[in-house]
Amino acid sequence: MKGSTVYDCTVIELSKHHHEKGNITVVENDFTVPFEVKRVYYLYDIPGGESRGGHAHIGLRQLLVAAEGSFNVRVDDGRIKRTFTLNRPYQGLLIPPGIWRELDDFSSGSVCLVLASLHYDEADYIRDYENFLKYKRE
Ligand code: TYD
Repeated sequence: MKGSTVYDCTVIELSKHHHEKGNITVVENDFTVPFEVKRVYYLYDIPGGESRGGHAHIGLRQLLVAAEGSFNVRVDDGRIKRTFTLNRPYQGLLIPPGIWRELDDFSSGSVCLVLASLHYDEADYIRDYENFLKYKRE
């Protein structure tokens, strides 16, 4: 999605089942996310002051959730930048392909849960910002 913009990045509300012994949030293919989840991974033990991301994807769709703690997600379509703060385990940020992203300001002990539409493939990454800008202008 070369034509994707930061306005295609949206925060969605996930289910939240209140329980006296704690809460449960459920994410399901077809119901919650607008793609088939092929891969789940999570970032944790992130050192203070560290940033992650710093790349875009050609075909990958993702849902990012602050399963614990908080962090900022800076998204950039080559023209416009937006910053989302994720700090609720029952909210998720949908990121379409063709968006540069950087994650930072991780709180201590935070966990970033990522649901992804494709298996890991380094060829799907654009890791150079100048190449990303060229890709978006093509
Ligand atoms: P990367 O996606 O660049 O991390 P982040 O965006 O969180 O900073 O991934 C870092 C490294 O981890 C990458 O070079 C290879 C490895 N990796 C896998 O092997 N499989 C995966 O599914 C992911 C997400 C990463």
